[in-house]
Amino acid sequence: MGEGGVVIVGSGLAALTVAYYLPQHENVMIFTKKGRSDSNSWRAQGGVAAALAEGDGWRSHFHDTMTAGCLHNDERMVELIVREGPERLQEWMNAGMAFDLDESGRISVGLEGGHSFRRILHAGGDQTGKALVSFLLQQLNDRVPIVEGEQVIDLLIEDGRCVGVKTKREDGRVSVWRASAVVLASGGCAGLYTFTSNAPTATGDGIAMAYRAGAAVADMEFIQFHPTMLAAMGKAVGLVSEAVRGEGAVLETEDGRRVMDGVHPLGDLAPRDIVARAIAAEIDRGGCVYLNISAVPHFRRRFPTIAALCEAHGIDWEAGRLPVVPGAHFVMGGIVVNEWGQTTVPGLYAVGEAACTGVHGANRLASNSLLEAIVFGARAACSISRRDDWPVKGGRARRSNCPFGPTLPERALIREQLSTRVGIVRDGSRLREAVDWLEQFSLPYWLEGDVETLAAEDIETGYMLLAGWLIASSALRRTESRGGHYRSDFPHPHPSWQGRRLVRTKE
Ligand code: SIN
Repeated sequence: MGEGGVVIVGSGLAALTVAYYLPQHENVMIFTKKGRSDSNSWRAQGGVAAALAEGDGWRSHFHDTMTAGCLHNDERMVELIVREGPERLQEWMNAGMAFDLDESGRISVGLEGGHSFRRILHAGGDQTGKALVSFLLQQLNDRVPIVEGEQVIDLLIEDGRCVGVKTKREDGRVSVWRASAVVLASGGCAGLYTFTSNAPTATGDGIAMAYRAGAAVADMEFIQFHPTMLAAMGKAVGLVSEAVRGEGAVLETEDGRRVMDGVHPLGDLAPRDIVARAIAAEIDRGGCVYLNISAVPHFRRRFPTIAALCEAHGIDWEAGRLPVVPGAHFVMGGIVVNEWGQTTVPGLYAVGEAACTGVHGANRLASNSLLEAIVFGARAACSISRRDDWPVKGGRARRSNCPFGPTLPERALIREQLSTRVGIVRDGSRLREAVDWLEQFSLPYWLEGDVETLAAEDIETGYMLLAGWLIASSALRRTESRGGHYRSDFPHPHPSWQGRRLVRTKE
């Protein structure tokens, strides 16, 4: 690849959307640290939200997104996704993307929490992410090389600009790839928690690398916990889509009491933060929570992945009750970008969950993440092909003589710290303990040191520490509760925090 090419990091929906919309003459390479299907996008069940049904409109979708986000959202960015999303999806349908149809041949739209209309497009029942990723891979038709098993370990910064990446293969070989634009589409960091719906690859390394390179990150305290992960043998073993509740399933306790009764007017379809907290409270009291699916028609046909997941774990879904627990699902924050996916570092773009567009506010509305990936992926491609530039220089090369050596804990301990101290319900003293715990592992090294000589796995663990520290320290600073950030010592939203984002840069 020559100086003028584009490097894309990650192989989920946002990454492939950028590649799809870049002109054919661009020299593009995609690096993904595992395989092309090891992404959260591939696992996405519920679908993609778009106001396409009769009677629905972008204003209603806008309103629902803002309400779920506790008005912490960037209104301008929300308007962009709800208006442009249906246009992009229509383009894809014209190019052959097949969403599920209803009996009358119209697009079948599902319902999920916080939506005022049925507007969730889905494919293969509950295999929407896989269908979208497969569609794009087919469209790209090997036009863009996807290098699997090669981990991007650092960003190259020269004169304040991102000019490429450094990669490491499993055999330890390091390569330098220069590019005119680098796109971080590396996903989020919910894989930093013990119970998670995420692919094991979602460890926050793109966010950590961008922060290390001097890019601004924001809203890292807002972590969304999905209310319903399937529980088996004391573990969370996979997602049970919110679309199941959209089709009539309800949450209940062992003795059949409805969990969401009296909690929120939308009941089982209340915004996720509220449902997750209600379930967590029941479990903390020593109870178990079940999803009663007996009212869901054609369960196996509509939700084949979930039925198979139950069967794989010896859970008899035909008995009508699935044991569930909440699990970390999505980070609303990430690398700060503008409406073209540009970060604060010239030459560096971020799209998908790695980016913080401000669309999701303090709590993402269900099925808005694939939509965000599509809309901002297309926008980033447009900006790259125009060779847009930045007025300010923002990148920072790391210090070559960092005086600290690396120390690392076991990954399971990082996950345990985040889960027990920076989980669904937080408080100042536990957050302080989490920050102190994370800071004992040579954070200055992970911010400044030369990681090249370390094993790829250790670099990933170091970036987990950095991403975890960004979450914990941001959560400690925000002395209020809002959406995915709930503190028992500050249990309400506070007007002084309204519209205030915690933007963090290295200096
Ligand atoms: C789900 O299917 O419940 C997850 C979809 C999403 O996170 O938007």
